[in-house]
Amino acid sequence: MNLSAIITALGGRHAIQQLLNVGPSAISNYLTRGHLPERAKPIIYAALTKKGYQIRADDLEILACPPATSSQPLHHDTHSGKRILLIVAGGIAAYKALETARQLQQLGAHVTGVMTDGAKQFITPLSLAALTGEKCYDSLFSLTDEAEMGHIRLARSADLVLVVPATANFMARANAGIADDLATTILLATTAKVAMAPAMNPAMWAHAATKHNFATLRQRGVHMIGPVSGDTACGEEGEGRMCEPADIAAAAMQLITPQNMTNAQDITNGRNHNKSPLAGKRIIVTSGPTIEPIDKVRFIANRSSGKQGHAIAATLAKRGADVILISGPVNEPTPDQVTMVQVTTASEMLAACKAALPAEIAICAAAVADWRVQSISDQKLKKPEDPEAGMTLALCQNPDILAHISSASNRPKLVIGFAAETKNLLQNATKKRQRKGCDWIIANQVGGDADPVFGSTLNQAMLISANGVDEWPQMQKADLAERLADHIEAEVTR
Ligand code: C5P
Repeated sequence: MNLSAIITALGGRHAIQQLLNVGPSAISNYLTRGHLPERAKPIIYAALTKKGYQIRADDLEILACPPATSSQPLHHDTHSGKRILLIVAGGIAAYKALETARQLQQLGAHVTGVMTDGAKQFITPLSLAALTGEKCYDSLFSLTDEAEMGHIRLARSADLVLVVPATANFMARANAGIADDLATTILLATTAKVAMAPAMNPAMWAHAATKHNFATLRQRGVHMIGPVSGDTACGEEGEGRMCEPADIAAAAMQLITPQNMTNAQDITNGRNHNKSPLAGKRIIVTSGPTIEPIDKVRFIANRSSGKQGHAIAATLAKRGADVILISGPVNEPTPDQVTMVQVTTASEMLAACKAALPAEIAICAAAVADWRVQSISDQKLKKPEDPEAGMTLALCQNPDILAHISSASNRPKLVIGFAAETKNLLQNATKKRQRKGCDWIIANQVGGDADPVFGSTLNQAMLISANGVDEWPQMQKADLAERLADHIEAEVTR
C-alpha cells in the first residue's frame, strides 16, 4: 500500500482525517507504520473508487488514476508554454509533490518530474509519471535517460526548477554545490529560475545549519516558498510545515508569469507581494536585547522584549519584503516569512548584520548593550569571603552596529535607528541621528512608571529625519510598525 499516494489522491491529510474521523497524529502514525488500520480500509477503498481510481482491493494499491477531465489537464497539449522541472526530494511531505504537480498543470504548466532516491521511499516515479504524463527522471547515470535527454538538456529545458519538498538535507547539498545525483546536478547546471518549498521537522528548521543553508541559497537567488507554521507532516507542530500545494503552484507560476517577473524573492500562500513598493526589497531588521556574558552563569542584559522590532519585521514581510531579522534572545514568536538570525551578543549581531549586507534598507530596533565585560570568566566568579568587599567589572564598549551600517561602503539607501531616551528626547535623539549617520531616528521616551514601553504592546514615538520631526500618537507596536512601513514605502517611491 502506498499510503502517501492514497492521501494525495483523496485530497491530503485533512481530507483523510475527516473521512476517518481521526486527528492529525493518527495520520502520522499510519504514515510511520506504512499502512492503515483494518477498519479504515473499506472507507478508503470506497472513497478512491468514487473518485474514479482503480484500486486493488486486498492492499489498496492504486492501479490507475481517474481519466483526466477538462479542468485537470494531464498532458501538455493544453499548457501555457511554461515548463517546470519538479524535483521531489526525500521527505515525508513528498506526497504533496503529486498534488503540486496536479495544481501546476491546472494552472497550465507542463511538468516534468525528477526524483531523488530519498523521494522514492515516499512516492513512486510511476505515480508522478502517471500524473504528468511524462517520464519521471531519477537517475544521473541511466543510459536510457542520457540517450533520451542528457541532464544538461533536462536542466536547461525548464523555465523554472521547483523543489518540492526541499528537505534540510537537500538544501544542505544544494548549498554546498554537491552534485551526486540527478536532482542536485540539475541545480548546478540550470540557467533557469530555481524555487524551493522547504519542509521539515520544526527542530530541523530551527537548526543554525539549516538557517544558514536557507539564507545562503536565498542570497544566491533561489526563491523560497515558505515554510509556514502549523502541523508538520512528521506529526509535530511548529515552523517547518510546507506550504499547501495550491499555494506552491500559484507562487511558482507567479515567478514565471511575465507581468510578475520582478525581483520579489519569496512568495507564499499565493500572495502577490508585488503590490507594495517594498516587494522583494532586502531589509535588515535588528531586534531584542543583546546579552553580554560576565562568566559562565551571569550576564549583562536589558529590558528589551523585541516586540517592536519583531512587529516591524512582520509588517515588512507581509508587504513582500525580503526581511532578515537579526535578534537577540526574546520570547516573541518568529514572524512568518522572515529569515531569522538568532544572536546573543553585540559582536554576534554586528557580524550577522555585516553578513546580511548588502541590503536596501536597515532598521536597527535592537537594544544593543553599550558595554561588554572586558574579560569573560570561564568559571563562575566567586563571591569574596569578606562581606564588605566590593566587586569591579572592567567593561569595554561594544561596537555601534547602527553607526557601522550607516558608514559601510555598501550602505543601505535608508538606515533607520531607534533612540530610547529617559530625558530630553528630541535633543538627544536628534544628536544621535547625526552622530550615528543614519537617515531616520524613531525616538521614544522610556522609563516612565505609567508607561514602561519595554515589554509593553504600546509605544509612542516621533520620526526624526533631515526634513524635521513627525510626532506620532501612542499606539500599538504593531500599528507603529505599519506606520513606519507606510513612511518607508513613501520614501522608496519618491
Ligand atoms: O546609543 P543608543 O543605544 O541610544 O542608540 C540606539 C540606536 O543605536 C538603536 O537603533 C540601536 O539599535 C543602535 N545601536 C547599535 N549598536 C550599539 C548601540 C546602539 O546599533 N552598540
